[in-house]
Amino acid sequence: MVQLLLIGGSASDVLALKVARELGIGVTKLQAKKFPDGEKYVRILDDVKGKDVVVIQSMYRTPDEHLFEYFLLVKALKDLGARKVIGVIPYFAYARQDRRFNPGEAISFQTVTRLIENVGTDELLTIDTHLHRVDDISEVFKIPAQNLSAVPPLTSYVKQNFKLDHPIVIAPDEEAEQWAKIASDILGSEYDVLEKIRLGPDKVEIKTRLLSVRDRDVVIVDDIISTGGTMVETVKILKHYGANKIIAVCSHPLLVGDSLARILDAGAEALIGSDTVPSPVSFVSVAPVIAQALKGML
Ligand code: R5P
Repeated sequence: MVQLLLIGGSASDVLALKVARELGIGVTKLQAKKFPDGEKYVRILDDVKGKDVVVIQSMYRTPDEHLFEYFLLVKALKDLGARKVIGVIPYFAYARQDRRFNPGEAISFQTVTRLIENVGTDELLTIDTHLHRVDDISEVFKIPAQNLSAVPPLTSYVKQNFKLDHPIVIAPDEEAEQWAKIASDILGSEYDVLEKIRLGPDKVEIKTRLLSVRDRDVVIVDDIISTGGTMVETVKILKHYGANKIIAVCSHPLLVGDSLARILDAGAEALIGSDTVPSPVSFVSVAPVIAQALKGML
């Protein structure tokens, strides 16, 4: 049987250890550093010849740097004779720029997906990648790719840790409906979708739709919290319409600037995120989700 090795890039070394533990294997040793002039250096310290290697590297906060390290790692693994490289990119940056919104813009998502394929990735796993105009990530990649979800473990965490009265799950916009539906199934509650109008990179307007939130506990589910603009406006409008306790949930807590403070200040009782992006609210690990998918690929 082909031996599976696991490498955690600089962005996901801790997550890689958790996944390795779930799989009952060790982590392949890696040396990653930066030269004084800022150039990246990576060295794989174990023999990878003929082996299947999993590379876990998330693309948060300094996405270009993490992505470039991923390229160096995958290419080196192939040069060193790895049989297959499975990329695990828990937070996949650039997915929101999936078309030319204004004349002259680069379609970054397309460029990044092609580069990931061309560098030698044989198969790919991601978590809650922001897919807007496609139904499945396999429509975006030419290699086998699966988009896993952190929403089931996040919702189970909320269910276990918060007492919710007559709960309702809210998606801040249409794209988040897929996650609201999963969460409402787990909580056994209704869900509704708000209408989001983006006024700028850090400014959004949120409108209500059908169901009443008055005197109900609310779980808001979204994929990404970046500037916090979406979550802050969502919490405010739900409070305005009489919601009780509000628990905000997201897969990727990028939490730029003071967004966490602003979300809590707007009236959210808690914010729960996953460890695709290490943060003060990354209470839920996606390691079991990744390990389960890897087992299914063996
Ligand atoms: C976009 O539609 C995403 O699903 C998130 O709602 C968005 O990326 C959050 O960004 P921000 O926190 O900057 O509002």
